[in-house]
Amino acid sequence: MPTEHHDPGEPDRVALHARNVSFDWSELPRHWIPGEPFATHLINVLHLLLPEGERWFCHVFKQALPLIRDEQLAEDVRGFIGQEAVHAESHQGVLDHFDAHGTDTRPYVQQISWLFGKVLGDRGYAGKQGQEWIVERVALIAAIEHFTAFLGQWVLDARELDEAGADPTMLDLLRWHGAEEVEHRSVAFDLYAHVDGGYARRCRTMVVAIAVLAIMWVRGVRFLMAADPVLRRRLAAGTVGHAERFSWERTTESLLETYARARRAFHSQFSLREVTA
Ligand SMILES: [Fe+2]
Ligand SMILES: [Fe+2]
Repeated sequence: MPTEHHDPGEPDRVALHARNVSFDWSELPRHWIPGEPFATHLINVLHLLLPEGERWFCHVFKQALPLIRDEQLAEDVRGFIGQEAVHAESHQGVLDHFDAHGTDTRPYVQQISWLFGKVLGDRGYAGKQGQEWIVERVALIAAIEHFTAFLGQWVLDARELDEAGADPTMLDLLRWHGAEEVEHRSVAFDLYAHVDGGYARRCRTMVVAIAVLAIMWVRGVRFLMAADPVLRRRLAAGTVGHAERFSWERTTESLLETYARARRAFHSQFSLREVTA
């Protein structure tokens, strides 16, 4: 069953560890991409999804640790858990700021909590069935982590956010988180390959991850747009304009460019693994 994915002599291998960070949200503008409520809320959905989601990652990976028969992978998984735990608390800080400043996020967050706590939570299974449920959820996390690594790389390179005058503290949070997502990008996949690796489950959980993420993201943006009192006032007064400094065109181009680079990186890694296997 165990599959080795770590070469101790691998030159670019880094030890994963959580970093101490803190952010002061007291000066955060409601629309932290100036004049762009939609783009702001499109990214703000992360703050609603991630605290519950990343705590769930940690919970499942802690359950998976006893299944690991490779000390280096176990070390990576522990590093992953440490990093995701700090990510969750950091995004929780933004969520608390929203709640304290006129955006009650509880109705949406309760849905996310139900998804990760009930639908994807522990079901009291034991033995083989319990292990199967852990593996299924590890596969789901591996699928989701493809997207967090992709978004992490994008936000690191997204100069269009700087050019649009995006809030520097928010950019700090997103880029620190993005850098750690890129840093631990292969850990969930390696764990899945180690405990199962089945291609059919990989495809199935990827389809589920794409569908659930798309639904939750659309619902999240709709929720935040509807809960935004400033936007409601501007819509009523017909004064919602488009920010000149933010470019949707450049943003789309940079997302496509990041996707193309991620595909190339994946294929070169895949070839390398085939050659060195
Ligand atoms: Fe994270
Ligand atoms: Fe992650």
